[in-house]
Amino acid sequence: MSLASDELDRRISTGFPSVDRVLGGGLVPGGAVLLAGAPGIGKSTLLLQLASRLTETGHPCLLASGEEARAQVASRAGRLGIDGQGISFAPGRDLTEVVDAVLAERPAVAVIDSIHTIRDSASHSLPGGVSQVRMCADALVAQAKEHGIVVVLIGHVTKEGDLAGPRTLEHAVDTVLTFEGDHRSGLRVLAGGKNRFGPEGEIAWFEMTPKGLIETDATPRLAGGESEPGCATAVTLAGRRAFALDVQALVVATDGPPRRQVAGLDPHRFHIVAAVTDRVLSLRLNRSELFGASSGGLRLEEPGADLAVAAALASASTGCPPPFGSGFVGEVSLTGSVRPVGGMDHRVSAARAAGLSALFVPAGGPMPDDRPPDLRLVQVAHVRDALSFVAAKGATNQDMASDQRF
Ligand code: TYD
Ligand code: MG
Repeated sequence: MSLASDELDRRISTGFPSVDRVLGGGLVPGGAVLLAGAPGIGKSTLLLQLASRLTETGHPCLLASGEEARAQVASRAGRLGIDGQGISFAPGRDLTEVVDAVLAERPAVAVIDSIHTIRDSASHSLPGGVSQVRMCADALVAQAKEHGIVVVLIGHVTKEGDLAGPRTLEHAVDTVLTFEGDHRSGLRVLAGGKNRFGPEGEIAWFEMTPKGLIETDATPRLAGGESEPGCATAVTLAGRRAFALDVQALVVATDGPPRRQVAGLDPHRFHIVAAVTDRVLSLRLNRSELFGASSGGLRLEEPGADLAVAAALASASTGCPPPFGSGFVGEVSLTGSVRPVGGMDHRVSAARAAGLSALFVPAGGPMPDDRPPDLRLVQVAHVRDALSFVAAKGATNQDMASDQRF
């Protein structure tokens, strides 16, 4: 949807340049944003920091929290070094109270933490239930639109990555942001999903520190640059930004029904790529437990990551590491051919930024106009061509190939 220029002019900067970029240039008055993420990932922290910066630039914020009491919010603010003077607080369990607080305060930005804890006392359905969540979201979004207030709804996602409550919550808002990362590491990524006011798929990196979230450049940390069996580097695309990210695979022989488990990867694509790799190299993966993970558990679900998944699986199965400094880009089809993917210019730049020296790319696809001197682009038409590093094991695999039980 195109925006009238005056709407664009009225955009509010969050004070975090990378968040503004993900939003498509800042918050839009009257716009509704959903920030979704797993519990404990740092949603409340991020929005408290945003609220602090917004109030500093003259945009009053109201924080309605049903998750935490005022004292808890104040103590977090204390830890973050936020004095909290300009941020008003309202309890966030009752819809009418929140709506009244918004009307009384008329903030520039109202943050609802979270949409799952709020309930409409006029309704008899359970708080957190599908109809309550949707009803409350609709009421808050309608109020925001009427008064030109930005409303940010915090939503929890389940372990599987689904939004707890109705999927329709995503339809109620203009912009969906997700906040994710591995709890054990401090790295977090804010990713733009649906966005009526800007590009989709932009991302911003943060580091969770004792002083809160700090914008960071994660590029050097996501691809280890090491060459070890079971690990291959993907160069993936999120919005218009590309980054190198390691994929790990583990292959364990089993007599029982083999498990397949992934973290950060698309399970459906993982199964297909495993089957194709198995067929091409005769690895007998079908009788092994297969595990796949992206570095830091960051989401790596686009088809362009297929070739790296194939390389990680082939490497894990044979013990042969991919060539030192190599990265992989390409979608793997059922026949094993490597299909072109978009954003090659960005991916090549990201591969260079990550210090890669060779990048396996789909043959016949678009290539960057300028061939970088320090990065060898190896064009591959078939997954087999990208997996020649396991050739040393080919002899043993020949024996397996004669075993037709799979
Ligand atoms: P929180 O914002 O409460 O997560 P969410 O709202 O998504 O549930 O943050 C959760 C974690 O972040 C908490 O376990 C502690 C950690 N944290 C820090 O490491 N540094 C900080 O400055 C703050 C405020 C939190
Ligand atoms: Mg919280």
